[in-house]
Amino acid sequence: MSGPTLDFLRTLLLRRGAATSLTDAESRLLVTLARGRRSLVEVGVFQGATSARLAAAMSPTGSLWLVDPYDRRLRLERLLGLSYNEHIARRTLRPWSGRVHWLRRASTVAAREIDLAWPAELIFVDADHSYAAVRDDFLAWSPHLAPAGILAFHDSRRCPARPDLDATTGPVRLVEEILRGEHGSWSLCAEADSIAAFQRGPASPSVAPGATGHGLPRRGPDARTGDR
Ligand SMILES: C[S@@+](CC[C@H](N)C(=O)[O-])C[C@H]1O[C@@H](n2cnc3c(N)ncnc32)[C@H](O)[C@@H]1O
Repeated sequence: MSGPTLDFLRTLLLRRGAATSLTDAESRLLVTLARGRRSLVEVGVFQGATSARLAAAMSPTGSLWLVDPYDRRLRLERLLGLSYNEHIARRTLRPWSGRVHWLRRASTVAAREIDLAWPAELIFVDADHSYAAVRDDFLAWSPHLAPAGILAFHDSRRCPARPDLDATTGPVRLVEEILRGEHGSWSLCAEADSIAAFQRGPASPSVAPGATGHGLPRRGPDARTGDR
């Protein structure tokens, strides 16, 4: 039996939680950014560990859109007609089933098809990490952002917690370009470990402690929670 199949069975039988590569500081930042929001998107869901934290933090009337193609790569997945990761993610997100919307599509296809009730207040991009793919994600999803919405990229900043990232890592390269102003006017509004989060336009106090961002709900603690 293959390693992924054994992992899948262990997760189901031992009721293990969904796996994720996010650090605690990254998870805390996303929870802070998601708190009270009504329209959120996660691009690249895997087993839904971060999705569950976003769903728990968003407004009780909020919607969370989850985008992942969940390719069935293993022969057994194809035989069973399921993706192991999708199965775990759907189980993990069951408590929020009325407020979570699944798009089993590649990112750019989903961005074309999605019909958001409100422009997105938070989009978390964590899918294909090649430069071309993350750049396509940026171009495809940024039009869906609310005017003061936040676009956050995982694996996009070099930091002690992630020595594996370097200037050639797709999201790192893209975020360096955004910071140099090569993709229009964006400002870094929050960061933690390898996550960088941006808003359109010049820096605003919208994610500072106690500040109310342009049209966004009043926020809690400082969004810069990274251990840097
Ligand atoms: C690093 S994992 C996501 C981890 C998740 N965000 C978390 O916090 O636990 C990357 C995921 O992106 C998905 N993916 C790969 N290519 C994609 C694409 N073109 N569009 C959307 N998702 C994609 C993979 O199926 C995989 O589940």
